[in-house]
Amino acid sequence: MTVCRDCCCGSPRKHPDVDHAGQVARLRAALGQAGVRVSGCLDACERSNIVVVHPMPAAGRAGARPVWLGYLLDDAVIGDLTAWVEAGGPGVAPLPEIVGWASIGSAARRASIIGVRRAASSAWSATAAPSSWSLPRNVRIGGATTADTA
Ligand code: FES
Repeated sequence: MTVCRDCCCGSPRKHPDVDHAGQVARLRAALGQAGVRVSGCLDACERSNIVVVHPMPAAGRAGARPVWLGYLLDDAVIGDLTAWVEAGGPGVAPLPEIVGWASIGSAARRASIIGVRRAASSAWSATAAPSSWSLPRNVRIGGATTADTA
């Protein structure tokens, strides 16, 4: 699952009565550290707090799509949400009614936004500076030459 925590989701200024860190802690306690990933803004701030529940691999191969949930500001929803994920989540277990109320927009459209962001992030990484720069030797930089610093 992806839990958005950025400018609006998780913001005590925007949602002062919500224990945002406590939500993440409860989700991780129930689903494991690796099962809950915190992300930057997912471009759905108007519906914060956002959580995206990804299908298990087999369910995804069978056609299940990520489910986007919004307005997760009530701790009561967290219990039903974790129970649903533990029961199999998208494509496996029926969406509990209270969690269904939090379902927003088109999962396919939202999933495509994540895909675009990941692709953009990968493209940036591919063009980022390598871990070790290789400069031509004997190029003067300040008071030294690259031969001196190599
Ligand atoms: S901060 Fe969560 S959608 Fe923008």
